[in-house]
Amino acid sequence: MSVNIHVIGWQEFELMLQSPDFISNLENNVYIIRGLFNKELIDEIKDSCLSFSSKTADSWYPCIDDCPDYHRLHNNFPGAYVKAIQHAYYFHPWNDNDALFDSFKKIFSLKLALSEQKQNIQNYMSNIPSDGPIARIVVHQYPRGGGGQEEHIDPVSPYARVQTIIQASVPGDDFMQGGLYLIDPVHGRIELDRLTSKGDLIVLSPGVRHGVAPVDPESTFNWQETDGRWIIMPIIINSDVSNDGYGKPVGLGGL
Ligand SMILES: [Fe+2]
Repeated sequence: MSVNIHVIGWQEFELMLQSPDFISNLENNVYIIRGLFNKELIDEIKDSCLSFSSKTADSWYPCIDDCPDYHRLHNNFPGAYVKAIQHAYYFHPWNDNDALFDSFKKIFSLKLALSEQKQNIQNYMSNIPSDGPIARIVVHQYPRGGGGQEEHIDPVSPYARVQTIIQASVPGDDFMQGGLYLIDPVHGRIELDRLTSKGDLIVLSPGVRHGVAPVDPESTFNWQETDGRWIIMPIIINSDVSNDGYGKPVGLGGL
């Protein structure tokens, strides 16, 4: 069965959410919710990421109690579950990020509404890693000159039944080629990014094969450049304190 792409507004999407078959039909449907977030908010978040990375060295921390916010340069680590070239930022609710997390309450509520095991995650916003699943806001910048992510599927867990990706760049302006695509079992590759603009929300199944094709591969790559492809992802994840058994993303080939 092929994938249907719905470009709609939030109210229309909320009506679709009422369907008891919403989750079971998600493998065959992708939703682009137009202009859900204002562009000024997106630009403020990008600016605060750039300010953060200008003052803090890139690093990585396990998701345990007191995990700081951090940013990391991913450059096709050989041991990575999914190889990527991206500058990633990780923000946590216990690090004085109330305004940031409030901005995406709608998305977290959506994830909670669609989750199973609601009793285990209803306090996720105030959870710390030793309590169980936690909220995190991830921002990715895929620089021009080859930023990307290999094709993969994401693990489905009871608290991660939908992927929610906020477009934080303007395809066709911030970058010309590449970006998010998915694999339609009938029609092959569908270029999703070119159907979106800054502030749109993309909702799709974690189980659909997807990747980020190299962004402007002919351009000169430079970690210091601030354009390219940006996205914001509010997520609920299990911490590193205890293993939830739902696995990691599965890579399906090189960039
Ligand atoms: Fe993914």
